[in-house]
Amino acid sequence: MCGIVGFTGTREASPILLEGLRRLEYRGYDSAGLVTGTGNELHVRKKAGRLAELAKHLGTHPAPGCHGISHTRWATHGGATDRNSHPHLNARNDIAVVHNGVIENYAALKHQLQEKGVAFRSDTDTEVLAHLISHYYHGDLTAAVRQALALVKGTYGIAVMAKAEPGVIVGARLGSPLVIGVGDDGTYLASDANALAGFADKVVYLTDRQLCTLNETDWEIRDQDLAPVSVSVSDIGAFLGTGDADRGEYPHYMLKEIYEQPETLANAMRGRLEADNATAHFGGLNLSAQQLRQVDRVIMTACGTSYHAAMVGEYLLEELARVPVEVEYASEFRYRNPPLDRSSVVLALTQSGETADTLAALRESKRMGHTTLAICNAVGSSIAREADGGVYLHAGPEIGVASTKAFTSQVCVLTMLALYLGRTRHLSSTQGQRIIDDLHALPETVRKTLACHDHVKRVAEKYAHAKNVLYLGRQYLYPVALEGALKLKEISYIHAEGYPAAEMKHGPIALVDESTPSVFLVPRGNVFDKVMSNMQEIKARGGPVIAVAGAGDREVAALADDVIPIPDVPEYLQPIVTAIPLQLLAYEIALLCGCDVDKPRNLAKSVTVE
Ligand code: G6P
Repeated sequence: MCGIVGFTGTREASPILLEGLRRLEYRGYDSAGLVTGTGNELHVRKKAGRLAELAKHLGTHPAPGCHGISHTRWATHGGATDRNSHPHLNARNDIAVVHNGVIENYAALKHQLQEKGVAFRSDTDTEVLAHLISHYYHGDLTAAVRQALALVKGTYGIAVMAKAEPGVIVGARLGSPLVIGVGDDGTYLASDANALAGFADKVVYLTDRQLCTLNETDWEIRDQDLAPVSVSVSDIGAFLGTGDADRGEYPHYMLKEIYEQPETLANAMRGRLEADNATAHFGGLNLSAQQLRQVDRVIMTACGTSYHAAMVGEYLLEELARVPVEVEYASEFRYRNPPLDRSSVVLALTQSGETADTLAALRESKRMGHTTLAICNAVGSSIAREADGGVYLHAGPEIGVASTKAFTSQVCVLTMLALYLGRTRHLSSTQGQRIIDDLHALPETVRKTLACHDHVKRVAEKYAHAKNVLYLGRQYLYPVALEGALKLKEISYIHAEGYPAAEMKHGPIALVDESTPSVFLVPRGNVFDKVMSNMQEIKARGGPVIAVAGAGDREVAALADDVIPIPDVPEYLQPIVTAIPLQLLAYEIALLCGCDVDKPRNLAKSVTVE
């Protein structure tokens, strides 16, 4: 994973690099480092830990110079230490490399280099690049990078500097994004355009196997044979996320993002609900009405929280649109060879639009000739650009590593998509209109749901010491149980498992004792009585029960130890409304456990390696 920023121009590089890295910390925050150049000298500074550690170090050990490359790391090969931090240098310390991706054949390359007498100074896969480029370097950095990369298997977005070529930065990509920025003060390189907002006016995206050479006033992109390629230069504005990335009065981004949900849901729906035709519409799907009617199977693919949203989507599309749906982890789907026909549509769900496995699954689907769609939050991201059509969430930047508002917006968009597909098939206009009315009421319902926060705090205090927590729900609420468990695991490091409520009898019930609470999702609906029976089974074994249930539901209150009340909504909207107390519960427990809520250990917001 990791994020890269480079700059060469007429201003001091290190403040620009630090600011760019700050905006890329979502890609990893195990360590940060940079190298700048003055005349014939390279200044390397790197520190394990958050970017703040590097910034502090630069306070006492400044890195002068108007060109430099930098990196924020999510450790893949080698621990999160100073010596494994990027940049990595060759033996003579005159070539420096920063890298996002994984060099899969690094062990063999390292062995060959060691046999030639090269001494390694880190445990990373990246260091082989520095030595290989050095091996091929005879005064032309671009040529040396190209020769080195010809030996490499894996993925990379890299930036490289050589002491002997002041002001020059060479970049290359295969599988990891890289964008050139052009500004008044110089030329930039970054993993994502947001790192360059306010610095560059124009951007140019590299595609796989391209290399670029930047200097203070100019840039050039070449293919793998070093032939120049013509590319389109765009205004940066088209690729920047909108919305407020400021934490405001909130102590954490996660809490802010949880509280933004009434608004983000309204944004997801804005202009998309059509009262006249009792349907939804989407500007960017790029599918004709005829193509739409022909869709006979939707394969949804995603990772993490987006995968759970996709699972809710399976229930929604099957119930409301009667379209068969399959949901698959992108990391599995990309290596499968499913017999899809031309009327199957592959739908990728992703907040960041950069998740490596989701991107690879999308590309593989395109390669096989399928129509690909994306539901995505990050404007201008790789997946948004590469899908045949798609829908933006318009949820604004999500900074907290644990996804919250993106989940509810994804489910909301999927509900509208189900309405849209349903109306081309069997849903009557009366049914369509009822769904529209329910959706219109949703932001206000979610605002009321947030009033459960005080209840959640009391529940959190009672159970924050738990070592294991079960989350149980059925039908639409089974994926929400998975999501609730994921939220708790991610930010409080407490072991949690989500299960279909009835399935717990086949194993997880063995975990139940008086110190293992179970969170039941039990608003009124089709399976209410069934879930109540499952709750009885837990109570009979002495397990504490926390119920997320309709406000004032006496039957639930009589059985559960604690109730978190939520407003009543139709079943297909319950995933959104029940997710909110679970987000708050994870948040409050994580605070009580003293965890870093916005930047949990070992995780990254955007997983850009396989
Ligand atoms: C990481 C994040 C999760 C996210 C997942 C998928 O694991 O920590 O919060 O759900 O990636 O990310 P995406 O951007 O594709 O939705």
